[in-house]
Amino acid sequence: MKLEILLAFGFSLFVDSKPLSNIGGRKFNKLLLISFDGFRWNYDQDVDTPNLDKLVQEGVKAKYITPPMITMTSPSHFTTITGRWIEDHGVVHNMMFNSTTLLKLSHKATLKRSEWWDNGALPLWITAQNQGLKTASYFYPGGGVSYAGQSVNRSLVETFGHADDNETEWREKIDTVMGWYTKDDFDFVTLYYGEPDNVGHRVGPETPQRKKIIEQIDRTIGYLTESIQKNNLTDHLNVIITSDHGMTTIKKSPEVEEIKLSNYINFKNLSHFELLDYGGFGMLRPRKGKEQEVFDALKHAHPNLTVYKKEDIPEHFHIAKNSRIQDLVLIGDLGFNLNSRYIFYVNKGDHSFSNQEMDMKVIFRAFGPDFKKNVLAEPFDSVSIYPLMCKLLGVKPAPNNGSLSDTEVMLVNDIGGNAGRMQMSISLFATTILILAVI
Ligand SMILES: *[C@@H]1O[C@H](CO)[C@@H](O)[C@H](O)[C@H]1NC(C)=O
Ligand SMILES: *[C@@H]1O[C@H](CO)[C@@H](O)[C@H](O)[C@H]1NC(C)=O
Ligand SMILES: *[C@@H]1O[C@H](CO)[C@@H](O)[C@H](O)[C@H]1NC(C)=O
Ligand SMILES: *[C@@H]1O[C@H](CO)[C@@H](O)[C@H](O)[C@H]1NC(C)=O
Ligand SMILES: *[C@@H]1O[C@H](CO)[C@@H](O)[C@H](O)[C@H]1NC(C)=O
Ligand SMILES: *[C@@H]1O[C@H](CO)[C@@H](O)[C@H](O)[C@H]1NC(C)=O
Ligand SMILES: *[C@@H]1O[C@H](CO)[C@@H](O)[C@H](O)[C@H]1NC(C)=O
Ligand SMILES: [Zn+2]
Repeated sequence: MKLEILLAFGFSLFVDSKPLSNIGGRKFNKLLLISFDGFRWNYDQDVDTPNLDKLVQEGVKAKYITPPMITMTSPSHFTTITGRWIEDHGVVHNMMFNSTTLLKLSHKATLKRSEWWDNGALPLWITAQNQGLKTASYFYPGGGVSYAGQSVNRSLVETFGHADDNETEWREKIDTVMGWYTKDDFDFVTLYYGEPDNVGHRVGPETPQRKKIIEQIDRTIGYLTESIQKNNLTDHLNVIITSDHGMTTIKKSPEVEEIKLSNYINFKNLSHFELLDYGGFGMLRPRKGKEQEVFDALKHAHPNLTVYKKEDIPEHFHIAKNSRIQDLVLIGDLGFNLNSRYIFYVNKGDHSFSNQEMDMKVIFRAFGPDFKKNVLAEPFDSVSIYPLMCKLLGVKPAPNNGSLSDTEVMLVNDIGGNAGRMQMSISLFATTILILAVI
């Protein structure tokens, strides 16, 4: 009789005890994923960035990480949030398009179009919500639509004409997100900034303006770490800072001969549909019966242009299997944009070149209670951020293409406080036995 009570009491302690760092009733810490669009891996190396540097001491830096091929904003962000290759998640371009109806919608116009994003691969917001977590998205691409009928619990979507570089607004976004954690008890938030991509396009990556925006980002990171402390979230919030693609200077005439595809094919006669004039990656669907003719005309057209028939796309790009990938895929060498009929001299910098190019690689930083300090991690594929986030949140991952072994070295051993929880319970149990034995 006495023993039964004792065991029951001990067992209830074992089940009920919670780790000391528990807030909001979960034993896992909260997570913030921040993306600075177009933050090339080495942008902090020629600018004074005291706050980013401090994060290296206080957390983890990967030398760089590799985004998926296609190195564009929506495709890459969606790989990060789903852990799936682009051929699997289907967001194959910034623009929404239909090569039958010839519809084309701009990136901003896709942000509320579920039919572009919802192709079966569930993003982490939804998977986490289905396991009882509360999630939110602040401007993160793909956060504004619904997946299998479910939407992100709270979502703000970037509007047309939104200024990318307003530092006051950058800080307000952080204040808002802090409130989401402290007042509304959100578990996982994704936060997106449109810089340094915008400046990188407009004036090019190797410019004083780009360095200036990196300094602004660094001040914002300083503001973030202060805000985390002020909100008493230091021991409860993990933060991952990363990006979607790098940036490179566009090569121009007369330094090089630019690629202008109308020099080699007659678009009107040969092309049914094309997605070009969008950096170094393009697609083309020839008119019926003209497939071989177009391929032959482009194959050796320009030394810095590679053309693949869909069936010959290298497997390591992980794009070929998707039906949205068109018959011909065109890739320019680094710095060679794919122009169709005219050369628009708008962008001084661009991306969407091969993800093997160093200029397309991006930053990765992480800190918080579940990350080790002062770790310099080896490069890995951005597809592996997803299983890392699941591990940190205690979410059972959906099928994905990432690997936890890429990031395990960054983590302390006790994610979710399991070991601590067990230890405390056992010691309470032992104390109970001792007290009852004395009685
Ligand atoms: C393109 O539009 C047609 C006609 O509306 C539709 O049948 C087809 O499924 C669409 N294709 C894609 C890939 O969305
Ligand atoms: C969050 O969204 C899920 C659906 O994905 C829903 O079941 C849940 O009730 C929502 N939670 C809150 C707090 O709104
Ligand atoms: C920057 O953002 C702040 C806060 O949202 C706003 O008051 C201000 O007008 C903005 N400045 C510009 C130049 O848009
Ligand atoms: C943080 O903790 C301090 C000390 O316990 C308290 O005074 C302060 O109000 C807390 N701040 C917030 C935002 O909860
Ligand atoms: C395009 O097609 C038209 C009509 O078939 C033909 O007259 C013209 O020569 C073609 N142009 C080229 C450049 O092949
Ligand atoms: C462009 O092509 C030429 C000729 O093949 C080659 O020497 C050069 O390296 C290429 N440029 C780039 C950036 O790959
Ligand atoms: C990516 O993951 C999905 C889901 O598990 C799987 O079906 C697919 O085969 C994987 N792709 C590769 C290249 O392994
Ligand atoms: Zn981008």
